[in-house]
Amino acid sequence: MSQKFIINGGRPIEGAIKVKGAKNAALKVFPLALMTSEPIGISNMPEIEDCYRAEEMLVALGHEVSRSGKGVVEISYKSRTCVNLPPGLVNKFRASIMFVGPLLATCGEVCFPHPGGCVIGAGTRPIDMFLDGFVKMGAKVEVLENSYRLSAKKLKGATIFFPKITVTGTESLMTTACLAEGITILKNCAMEPEIPALAEFLNTMGAKIAGAGTPVIKIEGVKKLRGGNYMLIPDRIETGTFAILAAVANSGEVLIENCNPGHLEALWALFDKIGVNYKLGQNSVKISPTKKILPSNIVTHEYPGFATDLQSPYTVLMTQAHGLSLIHETIHDRRLLFTDMLTQMGANIIMADPHRVVVSGPSKLYARKLISPDLRAGIALVIAALIAEGSTEIDNIYQIERGYEDLVERLTGLGADIKKV
Ligand code: EPU
Repeated sequence: MSQKFIINGGRPIEGAIKVKGAKNAALKVFPLALMTSEPIGISNMPEIEDCYRAEEMLVALGHEVSRSGKGVVEISYKSRTCVNLPPGLVNKFRASIMFVGPLLATCGEVCFPHPGGCVIGAGTRPIDMFLDGFVKMGAKVEVLENSYRLSAKKLKGATIFFPKITVTGTESLMTTACLAEGITILKNCAMEPEIPALAEFLNTMGAKIAGAGTPVIKIEGVKKLRGGNYMLIPDRIETGTFAILAAVANSGEVLIENCNPGHLEALWALFDKIGVNYKLGQNSVKISPTKKILPSNIVTHEYPGFATDLQSPYTVLMTQAHGLSLIHETIHDRRLLFTDMLTQMGANIIMADPHRVVVSGPSKLYARKLISPDLRAGIALVIAALIAEGSTEIDNIYQIERGYEDLVERLTGLGADIKKV
């Protein structure tokens, strides 16, 4: 039987909460171990299901992964056992695609099924831009019945333009190009903070990457990479989610610690507009209660725009704003479908089309039995349940715990009444 959250809503939310290391940075570091024979140490690692799957992937490929404390992971090379990515793991998380390039670059071939992860795009989320990039670097791609097979005697540097901005696509080709022969230029790259962080670490391993964090990245291939130690940057989506939770609850002061407020400028600009009281510190944010939340439209956008991963918590916030707001989701096709569950809880939300909803607030929310459809919609339902009247049951919480460590403990620390059963 799957585990559930039981949340009794209406408790004041106040106190301090610490942000963990960034999930979407962590998942991109594990595959680097395939590119060096020296050990890699990672600290500030979030203890979440997706990271455990990435660890299992490395073990399946012949590496040793050990822990010397909470959030501290050591990876060392034993022997390469195969070039097939285990389908049972690839199915579990989208970032499993990050293992493809390093295997291709070091073994000359790799087989894998279509990656899994949150069901938030049309059909299965496409990987065409990864495949096109590997082809440009000299790989042969065979599409078999249930898998892809990529092969290349030697990868060569190439100039690659991304027709659409892709975060993991940028990270994957940037990483792979480090071991390709010659120069790779990536154009129209994603600029999320996890990308320069990854490039910085790769450079300490001996890579030659310039321009990460801008739309054009230049990579000069090297023959070998060293090991090294990497401290993950704080999770900006967790930071934003907790800030929005504090604004939704609007019941006390919430101090969010161990974060980098500089990664969330789009959110703070929006808070200015809708009247949320916040104070930014160097590594912290304090949210204080406000008289009235005003409505504001949002359009999700690649970094530094408003993150799609914060759209669902923000939609909950708008159910408490005084007036109408239009939420326009431009990145992932299915990310607004969860709003149907907010409507069941009492929110006044009209779906204009699959990419846009109009929220009319404020609405009182009531407890319901809910199922978490995916990670970010799941946390939005948790936030809604925390202010709803009554006891909400949220099923399928694997989809929430994939991305948030010790959620019950940390929210309980803020005064929430939440239990896992
Ligand atoms: N796309 C293609 N073809 C491709 C790759 C992407 O059409 O080959 C499309 C996608 O379907 C999507 C758009 O391009 O419509 C952007 O997708 P992107 O590749 O940027 O997304 P991603 O790298 O798969 C990462 C995060 C997501 C986050 C997005 C956007 C990781 C592991 N995941 O996904 O995070 O929503 O960037 O910021 O880094 C989450 O943490 O809940 C999550 C889904």
